[in-house]
Amino acid sequence: MASRPPKRNGCRRRATGSGIRGKFVAAYPLISASGTGAGIYNNRYSHLSLENTCIRTYKLCIVGFGNVGRALVALLRRKETELRNRYGVGWRITGVASRRLGWLTAQDGFPPEKLLAADFTGAHVARDVHEWLRMADADTLFEVSSLQAATGQPAIDHIRAALEAGAHAISANKGPAVHAYRELTDLAAARERRFLFESAVMDGVPIFSLFRETLPAIELRGFRGVLNSTTNVVLEGLAAGMTFEESVRQAQELGVAESDPTDDIEGVDAAVKVVALANVLMHAGLKLDDVNRQGIRGMTAEQLREASASGEAWKLVCSARRAKDGRVVASVAPQRLKLSDPLALVKGTSSVISFETDVFPELIITEQDPGLEATAYGLLADFLTAVRSS
Ligand SMILES: NC(=O)c1ccc[n+]([C@@H]2O[C@H](COP(=O)([O-])OP(=O)(O)OC[C@H]3O[C@@H](n4cnc5c(N)ncnc54)[C@H](OP(=O)(O)O)[C@@H]3O)[C@@H](O)[C@H]2O)c1
Repeated sequence: MASRPPKRNGCRRRATGSGIRGKFVAAYPLISASGTGAGIYNNRYSHLSLENTCIRTYKLCIVGFGNVGRALVALLRRKETELRNRYGVGWRITGVASRRLGWLTAQDGFPPEKLLAADFTGAHVARDVHEWLRMADADTLFEVSSLQAATGQPAIDHIRAALEAGAHAISANKGPAVHAYRELTDLAAARERRFLFESAVMDGVPIFSLFRETLPAIELRGFRGVLNSTTNVVLEGLAAGMTFEESVRQAQELGVAESDPTDDIEGVDAAVKVVALANVLMHAGLKLDDVNRQGIRGMTAEQLREASASGEAWKLVCSARRAKDGRVVASVAPQRLKLSDPLALVKGTSSVISFETDVFPELIITEQDPGLEATAYGLLADFLTAVRSS
């Protein structure tokens, strides 16, 4: 597909354009009437900052329309007024896709309430991701399809297609960050777009943006974390006296574990998170196989009871550390931790990460009882970061 130049914020580009009103004439462009953004001067917010003097409407495409895709639509709807009033950002969902749905587009936008009711009437069907992005005239792609841990595909192809088509690419899927971080980041930079993935690790908790935006010139020496809910819940079941199978079944009934929980139990999901963090934050250049990985299969109630009697707890610990020779050594393994260790205290679906830096010896972030909205929020925050920086 032929690449097209990046779309720019119509408001700023038209600095000397028509439709400029009142006292803002010289300083603030107010009108955009390009195909992708209808500029609106809104008197009600004229007391607010420059950003609020014009509204640009972005066309959004979502690939993967499961739990996260739907939570994103619900959150966009809940925040719609705030995005317009505070950031001058409007949106319209012009593309939705999944394995079963195919590549659906609606040039005037899908009504969000209909999307949430799985009503796609009137949609046009594109042949493939390239035609879909073109028909939807996408400004931003949200990649929220299922993780394929071994390859990161087809999510990588979706993101590559979006960047080449001049759209930002935002992902909750870890695959692209793990298998193609450098390539996609370079491609985004070349196209003056952004490839962001805050929700890929610890849902929407700001980790990647924390280091990217607010900790300049810091040296990250390593991290340790408890980052997989399923194993955490299964270990708690064992501690309560269940067999391994009973505990897995309970985690499935609670909706924490997938119907096939193998990747969680064997530590693959945790290893994927370690690679994403190490490669992005420590430039480690790791592959999934570089992580020394041991899951929790075979652990017993007896082991958990014994640890508990000694005032300790078992957790599946993710870690990475820069060795003296400069290489990053990463592992995922069950560890018996003293209760004074912040990692030992995390319960249920909560997660925790502790960073060791040259400035802060231990910077700890805990995420308590995350919900789907937290993941959707990470996507929304990335979207705002992307469009406000372009
Ligand atoms: N759930 C969370 O709390 C959470 C948190 C952080 C990150 N994530 C990540 O976010 C992503 C979505 O999670 P989810 O919970 O929404 O999963 P989900 O409910 O299972 O939904 C996955 C969606 O992806 C679609 N899909 C799968 N393979 C596809 C393909 N090859 N092409 C197009 N669509 C495809 C599925 O389509 P069909 O249904 O039509 O098959 C489904 O709509 C995953 O990568 C996950 O790791 C999830």
